[in-house]
This record gives sequence, C-alpha cells and structure tokens, in this order.
Amino acid sequence: MASIKVRQNGPYLVDGDDVTLVDWNGVSYPVPRRPFAICRCGGSSTKPFCDGTHSRTGFAAAEAAVPGSQDRPASADK
Ligand code: FES
Repeated sequence: MASIKVRQNGPYLVDGDDVTLVDWNGVSYPVPRRPFAICRCGGSSTKPFCDGTHSRTGFAAAEAAVPGSQDRPASADK
C-alpha cells in the first residue's frame, strides 16, 4: 500500500513499494530510497524531489486536512 503524507510546511512524503514517479511523458524517475520527498514549495533544485530548500526559505503551507470538511476533490464535482 502506498501513502502520501503532507508534511507541515514541507514536502509530500511518499512511501510504498507500489509507487512509481513518472514525468508527463510517462518516463520513470529513479527513486533511490523510500520513503522519498516530493517538493511542494517549488524551490528545490532537484525537482521533483525535495532538497531541503523549503526550510531555508520559510515556506509556509496553508493546506491541512479539516475533519468534517465538505470540500471534495475537483473531479468529484463532475
Ligand atoms: S518542499 Fe522541500 S525543497 Fe520544496
């Protein structure tokens, strides 16, 4: 089973052996270890992976899971 953990003011932490990270052409990125972190701040020089830049730039993410929220993914509205 795969999991994606949203780190507070940090990257997405992806874990699971059944996860493949691919670009827009479907070409796989080599993943050196698991779990691995995907940049969420946009500042990494090793995108799509996190290189720790978020901690130096003071990246502050607003998103958090809200229990009981009525929000749904955009695709759920179609
Ligand atoms: S989230 Fe870590 S460098 Fe962007």
